[in-house]
Amino acid sequence: MTAAGPHVVVIAGARPNFIKVKPVLDALAADGARTTLVHTGQHYDDAMSGVFFADLGLSPPDHHLDAGSGSHAVQTAAVMTAFEPLLVRLAPDAVVVVGDVNSTLACALVAAKANVPVAHVEAGLRSGDRAMPEEINRIVTDRLSDLLFAPSPEGVRHLLAEGAPPASVHLVGNVMVDTLLACRERARARPTLAELGLRAGGYGLVTLHRPANVDDPAVLDGLIRALGEIAVRCPLVFPVHPRTAGRLAGRLPDGVRPLGPVGYLDCLALQMGARLVLTDSGGVQEESTVLGIPCLTLRESTERPITVTEGTNRVVGRAPEAVVAGAIEWLERPPPPRRPALWDGHAGERISAVLTRSLASRARGLPTQRAITERDTERANA
Ligand code: UD1
Ligand code: UDP
Repeated sequence: MTAAGPHVVVIAGARPNFIKVKPVLDALAADGARTTLVHTGQHYDDAMSGVFFADLGLSPPDHHLDAGSGSHAVQTAAVMTAFEPLLVRLAPDAVVVVGDVNSTLACALVAAKANVPVAHVEAGLRSGDRAMPEEINRIVTDRLSDLLFAPSPEGVRHLLAEGAPPASVHLVGNVMVDTLLACRERARARPTLAELGLRAGGYGLVTLHRPANVDDPAVLDGLIRALGEIAVRCPLVFPVHPRTAGRLAGRLPDGVRPLGPVGYLDCLALQMGARLVLTDSGGVQEESTVLGIPCLTLRESTERPITVTEGTNRVVGRAPEAVVAGAIEWLERPPPPRRPALWDGHAGERISAVLTRSLASRARGLPTQRAITERDTERANA
């Protein structure tokens, strides 16, 4: 901590991370913090990483760990091994991790063991399904974190039920929504639909990448069959994630059009123009809610139930008949648009307000945490 403000290391490694760190970096800089962005290299293709820096106007990473792909243990260890010496060298006042990917867990673990305060953005989400690798990452990252920034009230409830100190838990809203609202008009202005020959309201959008959906050929076959049936009523476009690309082997039915992974602004444009979204993505569940687009989640559970209770999402599972029935219902009777409280474009500012104040208290030897949630969020909004 210098007179100029705290030094905060911010971690990003995979596609959704780049979108989440942007508003946090901006808000920290506006509050006088020095930020260092570390890219772990979990995602590395231009379509999974580079395009997001360009679309979001994100400065290039200050450090690149080049961890790359691998099994969970190999990838997590590669990030940890590369991050540890860098962290020692940087000696920051705090490390911010976002989301629930392997890079999140790896860097939280390294920072916690180095006795550097960890702040977790998107804390408290739980699917209740420990077969999801992300669920393990969420539980462990939250347990290791000193500051827990929850996007929605059920996140706060989970954290408190698991014994997190109440003063470490802050209800701040959703950083994914900050970025969406900041980029919406630029996305609307893009020629994405015209270039693909699509008409707004004339197609559905599909994204699938969860191991439980795409790694098991029988499950993937069933989902592809369901997409073919839905496409008879509403043609579908499907930007294919690299994990999924290797498993599809060209077997998509008529009416389901594969694309490569698309950039962030193109993905928002495709969501805005869609009549229906079919997904297993966490971020897309949230974005479709904010955009008011009917969404079906092709999973047995969601860690984002607020998109169901206060949004346009429905969790239909992965049984082909249930997916087709859900799609027919959403096409015939779309849900009304709604938006959760605090999903208002200011989550990054709330996070920065809490984090910089907490680090300033720590530097003065004062207690670093006190009860916050609503009171602070109101003040940050004032
Ligand atoms: C990861 C996250 C998941 C998140 C998703 C976002 C974990 C455990 N999983 O899943 O939570 O929803 O990112 O997209 O952290 N690949 C490429 N190019 C790339 C990156 C990956 O071809 O730039 C391929 C590699 O074959 C790799 C596979 O995709 O083995 C999976 O990548 P990985 O990062 O391990 O997991 P994701 O499925 O992307
Ligand atoms: N996204 C994108 N291009 C795509 C698919 C998704 O830009 O081809 C965006 C999407 O709009 C959202 C984020 O990537 O902002 C979600 O990432 P992903 O689905 O890979 O991960 P998850 O949110 O499930 O962890």
